[in-house]
Amino acid sequence: MKRILLTWASSGLGLELAKLFTEKGYEVIALGRHKPALDIPHISLDLTSGESIQHCVQEIHEKYSDFSCLLHCAGDGKVQLIQEVEYAEAETTFKLNAIGPLTLTTWLFDLIKKNESDVIVIVASIGVKWVQHMTTYGGSKWWMRWLVENLQAELKWTKSRITGVYPWQLDTQSMSWPNGRKSQLEKITGKKETISPMDPKEIAKIVFDIYALPKNIEISEIIINRK
Ligand SMILES: NC(=O)c1ccc[n+]([C@@H]2O[C@H](COP(=O)([O-])OP(=O)(O)OC[C@H]3O[C@@H](n4cnc5c(N)ncnc54)[C@H](OP(=O)(O)O)[C@@H]3O)[C@@H](O)[C@H]2O)c1
Repeated sequence: MKRILLTWASSGLGLELAKLFTEKGYEVIALGRHKPALDIPHISLDLTSGESIQHCVQEIHEKYSDFSCLLHCAGDGKVQLIQEVEYAEAETTFKLNAIGPLTLTTWLFDLIKKNESDVIVIVASIGVKWVQHMTTYGGSKWWMRWLVENLQAELKWTKSRITGVYPWQLDTQSMSWPNGRKSQLEKITGKKETISPMDPKEIAKIVFDIYALPKNIEISEIIINRK
């Protein structure tokens, strides 16, 4: 069985993961709001809606119940002054980064156990260390990290491998585009950011190599720092 369920395959790191896993002979099922520009099956999923997650889980049960990996790539958040955190934005961020992935995983949990599927979660380095001006994004990623650790406990005595991936700054739209986190930070500090974010293609290769290791080797967490 070589089937990967991938949240957020339409752009950025998710798109690179979808391309690479497809190239390597896996069937990738894209779970997201938009169909990626690739010839792969797609199930509509809005992670901020419980109803949408339920429909998606039902379709997985009906058509794609045999899967070897659930790969969580979806996640987003902004850079903002702590005094400017708003309720609605915090709620959406926590739904997208924490409650959505949590419920999607728990509602697929019986299949994960039956298939001995692996679960890979793309978190972020802000899930392991503090960063100023990322109160909601950082908080929701710490919760995502909890999901990783919790699954490691729940699936300890099974063949499922659970990997938390913690990268720092990728060259994707949420970081580098005009309204991305880089420009949000520049507005707050008043300084031009000279960072060169990492190529998501390189991170996709690392994730694939970890996944392709023999089934009795679990890389439980990997922190990838930009230099
Ligand atoms: N970029 C970075 O610097 C960085 C660093 C560390 C970790 N990460 C993490 O890496 C992962 C991928 O990020 P990226 O930077 O590659 O993303 P990206 O391509 O810049 O972000 C856009 C994506 O967000 C998805 N999305 C937004 N709301 C959604 C929702 N309600 N339900 C489902 N999907 C939704 C969209 O998919 P649809 O339109 O198809 O729904 C869209 O493809 C995220 O978890 C992010 O937190 C990123």
